[in-house]
Amino acid sequence: MDETPGKVENEIKLSPDSELRFEVESNDETVYLELKSGIAEIFGTELVKGKTYSFTTGAKIAVFSWQGCELIIRTKKDTSYISKETPMMFYLNCHCCLEQLREHAEQNDTNGPITLIVGPTDVGKSTLCKILLNYAVRMGGLSRRPIFVDLDIGQGHVSIPGTIGAMIVERPASVYDGFPQVAPLVYHYGHVGVQQNPKLYDTIISQMADLVHQRMESNKKVKSSGVIINTIGWVKGRGYQHLTHIVQAFKVDIILVLDQERLYNELVRDMPTFVKVALLPKSGGVVERSTATRIEARANRVREYFYGTISYQLHPHSFDVKFSDVRIFRIGAPAVPDSCIPLGLKTDNYLIKLVSIQPSPNILHHVLSVSHATTADEKVIETNVAGFVCVTNVDTERQILTILSPQPKPLPDACLILSDVQFVDR
Ligand SMILES: Nc1ncnc2c1ncn2[C@@H]1O[C@H](COP(=O)(O)OP(=O)(O)OP(=O)(O)O)[C@@H](O)[C@H]1O
Ligand SMILES: [Mg+2]
Repeated sequence: MDETPGKVENEIKLSPDSELRFEVESNDETVYLELKSGIAEIFGTELVKGKTYSFTTGAKIAVFSWQGCELIIRTKKDTSYISKETPMMFYLNCHCCLEQLREHAEQNDTNGPITLIVGPTDVGKSTLCKILLNYAVRMGGLSRRPIFVDLDIGQGHVSIPGTIGAMIVERPASVYDGFPQVAPLVYHYGHVGVQQNPKLYDTIISQMADLVHQRMESNKKVKSSGVIINTIGWVKGRGYQHLTHIVQAFKVDIILVLDQERLYNELVRDMPTFVKVALLPKSGGVVERSTATRIEARANRVREYFYGTISYQLHPHSFDVKFSDVRIFRIGAPAVPDSCIPLGLKTDNYLIKLVSIQPSPNILHHVLSVSHATTADEKVIETNVAGFVCVTNVDTERQILTILSPQPKPLPDACLILSDVQFVDR
């Protein structure tokens, strides 16, 4: 490891089944980590011996070792600690059970396990998804191609916040950038909370579930590897109803409940007998995130979409388009007053109506999804999106919008869907 002035270098010995945890809090801080000997992993991704990993603000990391290892950590002020109490053995057991089901599916040409990870906020749901997916592609030889479905619209692990996404996982995640993506399937939702449009959330989930099942039918490896589904932490009342909708839509047969006995018992009570429900402990290392941290993480996720990460930089384009050359829509019309609806009839269909909107300063800094749909009808809602652009200027006098886009040219026939998600391009 190179010497950097002002940094403290610590050699750390990790005994088998223990983990080193640290967080990078301060803005100008970078923590450097190197595996000196032995074998270690970060959320299921194996570390390369002798390589220096650098972590910047916001990173919350656990370096786990099954066999024991030696690490070098270099930081201004070492706040890392070692924990021998981890739930990794439970998580590995889950992986082994899933692997047995995958083998069985492979031999009988049936679907592999369709696993739903649920639990309240900040219990390590997304982390468990990552670990199980990493183990599937690392340990299942070359034969595993699980599908990762991310239904967390607040964070967007597959795409950006305000969307749901699915992708086939072929290789382990990078320590920094997540799983390498090839053509993920992404649906526009447009908000970061389910409460804003529950009907749309359920609609796009059903649509995605159908396509995921079609994809499984078309590829044997994908079919037998199964699906791992990440969810949001809203598990009470209406949130619970969304979970049951996900179970039905995706034909889930395994539910892993993290850290909540009440939810576990409710699911055992309500699910059909072929759905296996297991309760798993949360890791003591999982870090709770404040609202401010979540807002910042969302902005970073959108920034990454346009500008890439430290290890994979991108250079977006900026161009002007005339108001008359864009077609912008919003999903969800204003509610119809009860007095206009026939007596006794209740409808929430207005929530999935496509409404055309005129460009105005109201859309400044908003992200717009670029739909694969070319005709502006209700099909837009059920059509996946190709990517995103962001409105960086609205000139009402000249009737021109300035757009930040990964593509160099305006898309002539694209239907753009307005999202609540905003990104200020500094
Ligand atoms: N064992 C661990 N040690 C240290 N940090 C951890 C550990 N497990 C998870 N984390 C960190 O804790 C944070 C929260 O974990 P995670 O995102 O998996 O929780 P979650 O249940 O998905 O949260 P949410 O409800 O917001 O979706 C993440 O930043 C993750 O990197
Ligand atoms: Mg999560």
